[in-house]
Amino acid sequence: AAAGATVDVLLDEPIGRIRPEIYSHFTEHIGGVIYDGIWVGPDSKVENVGGIRKKLVDHMHRLGKVVIRWPGGCFADSYHWRDGIGPAEKRPRRFGRWKEVTEPNSFGTREFMQFCRLCGDEPYFAANVGAGSPTEFQNWVEYCNGPAGSTSLADERVANGDPEPFKIAYWGVGNESWGCGGKFTPEDYCEEYRRFTEWVPGYGVKLYLTAAGPNSNDLDWTRRFFAKWVDGARAPLQAFAAHYYCGTTGHALKFSGDQWYEMLHKANYMETLIREQWAAMGEFDRERKVKLIVDEWGCWHPEGTGNPKHLFEQMGCLRDALVAALTLDVFNRHADKVDMANVAQLINNIHSLFLADGDKFVCTPNFHVFEMYRPHHGATCVRLVAQSPDVAFKIGARDEKIFRVAGSASKADAKRLTITLVHSHATEPVETEIRLKGAEAASVRKTVLAHSELNAHNTFEKPDVVTPKTSETDLKGASLRVVLDPASVTRFDVVLA
Ligand code: AHR
Repeated sequence: AAAGATVDVLLDEPIGRIRPEIYSHFTEHIGGVIYDGIWVGPDSKVENVGGIRKKLVDHMHRLGKVVIRWPGGCFADSYHWRDGIGPAEKRPRRFGRWKEVTEPNSFGTREFMQFCRLCGDEPYFAANVGAGSPTEFQNWVEYCNGPAGSTSLADERVANGDPEPFKIAYWGVGNESWGCGGKFTPEDYCEEYRRFTEWVPGYGVKLYLTAAGPNSNDLDWTRRFFAKWVDGARAPLQAFAAHYYCGTTGHALKFSGDQWYEMLHKANYMETLIREQWAAMGEFDRERKVKLIVDEWGCWHPEGTGNPKHLFEQMGCLRDALVAALTLDVFNRHADKVDMANVAQLINNIHSLFLADGDKFVCTPNFHVFEMYRPHHGATCVRLVAQSPDVAFKIGARDEKIFRVAGSASKADAKRLTITLVHSHATEPVETEIRLKGAEAASVRKTVLAHSELNAHNTFEKPDVVTPKTSETDLKGASLRVVLDPASVTRFDVVLA
């Protein structure tokens, strides 16, 4: 193994509580996400609970209590919530936003809420700004949150079978408002945002309102939105939502060694995005009342490796798992800034955790990363400093380099420390010394996700090609000498002495 990586875990330098919400999901009416992914219908032969795929629900429980965003994405800015309430047979059929497929509206507010309740997760609704109105938005809030008997809209929900309010706190006001959500200027969008959000009652629920943030790290959007927001007497705003897709390099399963590194390099850009967006927001929001969220992120490969029935579906491999791990480590390290993040998208789409088709179902390597990182949920992130020799690679003719080792660390309580490390080198292991500052390990268990093939992936026929392996170690003390496998994600569960 190549020598030379060190990882300092500075236990006396807490960064902040890692909100479980940064491990959240995104589900849009697009391709096979809702229909065939989540919703199979109550009459389906596929095992279901009231129409919702049971295997999916069972696996969601392994990921902890987080948030699920719905109904889009770009779909949200054309969605009229009234189309998706009431008796299923009376709901209108519309053209879906994506590729003009028929949207049957069998899955609407009630069904999404059932999905969230079955999973034990919180809903995050995205409201229609592009083709909707403040009234339509505010009526949706009232329909969902109004106590039974309080208003006609609340009673309509009761008549549709839900006496208890849905108590939805998270509301996104528009999606990608610089693009499919209406191609607004930041100033015009900010005015719309104010019209939508000023004086919206929560009906006993403290609303968490989010505005559509930049496309990737577009600082101009952010500065202009916030300048207007300050001018406009600061409409209620809890978070600002950036979207960052690291796209593709090569193909989902066919890529060169250089493209392996290029993809990880692109994933690591999330670090720059968070730092720079946060700094720009702080130029206006000096009291730091508004948090950053990233409510869409992931790899987006060209079409062609997924089920052709499902628009944008791609096969996720080991490389996508490392992208997920690197990104989640970045979010952990910025626990003081990032309130929520939603990987795009949960099932049968880009960067998915699950793939399904009829009664077939499989977990992608991404799922395993999300499950491996679960001990970070709610723990306090402590500073981690990784130093390792760079790996040189090329993007076209340009020379580039990337670190070998990156990661994050968190303390759940006085005894339990979790360290997650990504090792980027495609072929060589690396000797690594993990140095605990201000503590000693009594015992260490490790869980490794790795494979000798960089494009290893799980299929319906072979579902366990990429799965994590857990083992006990004899590591103890303040200096832990480990060897990280090439192209790997490793979690260390440390019991402190
Ligand atoms: O996740 C797919 C699409 O990507 C979403 O609808 C949109 O918000 C983004 O451009």
